[in-house]
Amino acid sequence: SWRIPMLVQELAAKVQQPPSRYVQPEQYHPVSVDVGAETPEPIPVIDLSRLSAADADDESGKLRLALQSWGLFLVANHGIETNLMDDLIDASREFFHLPLEEKQKCSNLIDGKHFQVEGYGNDPVRSKDQSLDWLDRLHLRVEPEDERNLVHWPEHPKTFRALLHEYTLNCKRIKDCILRTTAKTLGLNEDYFVAQFSNKAPSFARFNYYPPCPRPDLVFGVKPHSDSGVLTILLMDKDVGGLQVLRDGVWHNVPTSPYRLLINIGDYVEIMSNGIFKSPVHRAVTNTEKERISLAMFHGLDPDKEIEPAAALLNEKQPARYRTVKAKEYLAGFYEHFCKGTRFIECVK
Ligand code: SIN
Ligand code: FE2
Repeated sequence: SWRIPMLVQELAAKVQQPPSRYVQPEQYHPVSVDVGAETPEPIPVIDLSRLSAADADDESGKLRLALQSWGLFLVANHGIETNLMDDLIDASREFFHLPLEEKQKCSNLIDGKHFQVEGYGNDPVRSKDQSLDWLDRLHLRVEPEDERNLVHWPEHPKTFRALLHEYTLNCKRIKDCILRTTAKTLGLNEDYFVAQFSNKAPSFARFNYYPPCPRPDLVFGVKPHSDSGVLTILLMDKDVGGLQVLRDGVWHNVPTSPYRLLINIGDYVEIMSNGIFKSPVHRAVTNTEKERISLAMFHGLDPDKEIEPAAALLNEKQPARYRTVKAKEYLAGFYEHFCKGTRFIECVK
């Protein structure tokens, strides 16, 4: 039925043409934009080891400029071993290459017909005319640690769970460091963002698997969106590009950058910074030759947490540009809009 599409990996092995539900209306075709454009300047690289140093001012300034221009940046010297990154991506590749029956032990379907947030499969389909993206994914809640649903976590390869656990701890450390600097560059107390996370704040790991596509000019790997949440840490495929970011109305390719992490702020930081920082709109495109894997680590907030512009940033000249919204309301609106290719943040203004 239209509700439960075939997994894209199965589809890709079978068809010469993407079915019509994957094909974007002509005005959105990936080729109709400036896909090969040179970025106006390289994506900024932030040296994490320098952010914690005594003379961190230059690096903090770079971070502020990066967030004001791109809304994202690459991170070097982040302290995650290259082996850990390789092993985790290799383990997820091994998982995606397992026979379907084995992967479906982690299915994101209840009784084979209702989508749940976690697990392996397609992104949820909510309506008949929702356009579909050319990827399968494995989506796992990694925090709070005591709320992990291990039934969705692959048992094979055997190393997967321990690797993801260790990677999660590293992401948490990096997230806190980046958020402290982000708060400082806004003139806020350095713990302003970090203090928003209760011990109930969820984080999700999303492994994206993009099979090769016979017509990359017609479909999206992931349609344009900005991320909900506070901060996303993306481990991109080392060899295969596909991520694009929108800046000043033009799409730019994000080049591969082995062993660096790509960090973007999410809509919650856009709201809390009262729009000084904008969460970047991005998308993924596919290619005919090679599969691509990426791992996005999303840092969200407690569902009952209220998200609002920081009071210290508001005055008569700078009134609040966003209304207060609870994280759970935000998420509900976010998914509804994501399916249609629109942005919920426009409704919070
Ligand atoms: C995403 O933003 O959801 C996907 C990013 C990527 O695959 O590079
Ligand atoms: Fe994203």
